[in-house]
Amino acid sequence: MTILAWSPQLSVNIAQFDDQHQKLIKLINDLGAAMSSGQGAQVISKTLRGVIDYTATHFAAEEKLMTAHGYPEFRQHKLEHDALVKQVLELRDKLERGNITVSIETMNFLRKWLTDHILKTDKKYGPFLNDKGIS
Ligand SMILES: [Fe+2]
Ligand SMILES: [Fe+2]
Repeated sequence: MTILAWSPQLSVNIAQFDDQHQKLIKLINDLGAAMSSGQGAQVISKTLRGVIDYTATHFAAEEKLMTAHGYPEFRQHKLEHDALVKQVLELRDKLERGNITVSIETMNFLRKWLTDHILKTDKKYGPFLNDKGIS
């Protein structure tokens, strides 16, 4: 079950971040597969843990590069990251409390969460960082 597919439209034109976004998409699809195949709560929560951990790694990498180059929209970008992390942790809490209605809602949320952030926010740093010689 593919929740979300990579497409060139999602490219931010920075190779390492395109790679990381593709990995995040894969992790979210893995989570969707675990849910739709009726895996137990333990497997699902482990898979979600993978999404959460890799999200933290990815956000930190973006923040580091934006900071290193004095990206003018850093603060706003960081606020969005923080809000997204908070939301995904809330989802984990819901799942861990055994809220079964959360599954489809979770996948819709994660899909929208990732694509909106990449399309509306991440894409803005592309040209700025490209100008700094990063591609
Ligand atoms: Fe970002
Ligand atoms: Fe990103």
